[in-house]
Amino acid sequence: MSVGSSGLPRRDVPGAFDAGAPAYDRMVSSNPGYHAHLRFSALRMQLPDHGRGQRLLDAGCGTGASTAALLAVAPAAEIIAVDASSAMLDVARRKSWPASVRFVHSPIEELAPHGVTGPFDAILAAYLLRNVADPDNQLREFRRLLRPGGKLAVHEYSVRDSRAAASTSRRLRGTSRSKSSPAAFSPTRPNCRPPSWPPCSTSTSWAPAKAWSSMSPTPTSM
Ligand SMILES: C[S@@+](CC[C@H](N)C(=O)[O-])C[C@H]1O[C@@H](n2cnc3c(N)ncnc32)[C@H](O)[C@@H]1O
Repeated sequence: MSVGSSGLPRRDVPGAFDAGAPAYDRMVSSNPGYHAHLRFSALRMQLPDHGRGQRLLDAGCGTGASTAALLAVAPAAEIIAVDASSAMLDVARRKSWPASVRFVHSPIEELAPHGVTGPFDAILAAYLLRNVADPDNQLREFRRLLRPGGKLAVHEYSVRDSRAAASTSRRLRGTSRSKSSPAAFSPTRPNCRPPSWPPCSTSTSWAPAKAWSSMSPTPTSM
């Protein structure tokens, strides 16, 4: 199922993730590279000194996969991990975290009323922007939340540089939607393919951080 104008209303996205939360970790573990790619994006922010003295925001942390990536590259940082889905957060909270990691239940658009304020030294938004109602405004807000010189990593899928992925995407758009149940395209199953497709492990359609916006925050149109 697509999200946005012709699909699931964006305000309903966190509810969809609530429903998919119990299966989310199992689902992403079938995607080779999911965790490594998140770590790669976190690493690209080049956070100094293992993040010592830094405040990081994991925007749309889900079950904590992106939080773990931040923690891996910046174990000395304070990490605030935010998500609008309480069920995704429940899964995240059940994992083992150091005291420097805090999870907050909040839409990314309403951080301040939920006690989350900047400035941050870095923000990782992994698979979030596709889901928010106004990505441009959200990017501007990220910029406002960052201290000068702070870093923003926008981690999304891209098929632009992969012929195999582009062909997969075309097939998905052209033929598979009508044949598959909407659940096959749920935002809670971002690497799910119709049953007739090769399993994820044989796919080459994964590209880490292609939508990387910049090492320093600038308002960007997605
Ligand atoms: C595909 S998951 C990615 C989770 C995690 N970042 C990861 O890399 O595994 C996207 C997450 O964004 C959250 N989300 C979607 N829209 C949101 C919003 N407006 N505010 C906060 N979280 C949101 C969903 O609840 C979901 O947990």
